[in-house]
Amino acid sequence: MNDAPIGVFDSDVGGLSVSREIRSALPHEDLLYVADAGAAPYGDRPVEFIVARARLMVEFLLQLRVKAVVVACNTATAVAVQTLRSHYSIAIIAMEPAVKPAARLTESDVIGVLATSQTLASERYARLTGRFGGDVEILSQACPEFVALVENAELSGAQAEALIARYVTPLVARGADTLVLGCTHFPFLRAAIQTVAGPHVRVIDPATAVARELQRRLQAGDR
Ligand code: DGL
Repeated sequence: MNDAPIGVFDSDVGGLSVSREIRSALPHEDLLYVADAGAAPYGDRPVEFIVARARLMVEFLLQLRVKAVVVACNTATAVAVQTLRSHYSIAIIAMEPAVKPAARLTESDVIGVLATSQTLASERYARLTGRFGGDVEILSQACPEFVALVENAELSGAQAEALIARYVTPLVARGADTLVLGCTHFPFLRAAIQTVAGPHVRVIDPATAVARELQRRLQAGDR
C-alpha cells in the first residue's frame, strides 16, 4: 500500500468542504491541504493567473511527494485542469458542478447553478451545460460575494441571508427546485442557502462524489 499523502488545494478555505468528505470516505489516508490564501479569491481573476497558480500548487504538492492531487476548487478545475493533466502524470481528481445529478433530480425541469464568474465563463462549463441544457433549463448565477462571506465566517444570520437572497431568490422565483453548489466555498453556506431557498428546494454539493472518485482512483492504482 502506498502511504504517501493526498494533496488537496483551493484558493483558500473552500476546499475544506471537499477534504472533510475525503476524510470521512478515506479515514486512514493522510491529507495535505494547501490554501493559496495570498492569491485568493480566484473567481474573478484572469484565466492565465489561475492556471499559473494552479500549476504552482500542484508543483508544491509534488515536492511534498503526494500520491494524488485533488483540485478542490471549481474555478481552478474549470480553467486549468486540462493544463494540469497534460503537464503532470500524477492522478488529478477535480470538481465538476453537479449539473448531471441536478438534471436527473429536478421535477420542475429548472435548475440553478451557483458558482464563480470564471467557472461559469469557462469552456468546460459551456460543454457541461451543452450536454444537459436540452433536457432542463439551467440558470447560471455568479455569486461573487459568497466567497467573502465564507472567508469572514459569516455563515448565518440576517445579513448573510439577505445577501444570499439577492442571488438565490430570483432563481427560485424562476422555478428552480434544485440548486447546485458549484464552488467549494458554498457548502459552508448551505444551511443559509437552504433557509433562503425554502424547504422544497434541493441543494446539491458534489464533494461526496469527488471523494468517491478519489477512492476509486486510488483503489485502481491510478497515477
Ligand atoms: N472555492 C473555489 C471554487 O470552488 C474558489 C473560489 C474563489 O477563490 O473565488 O471555485
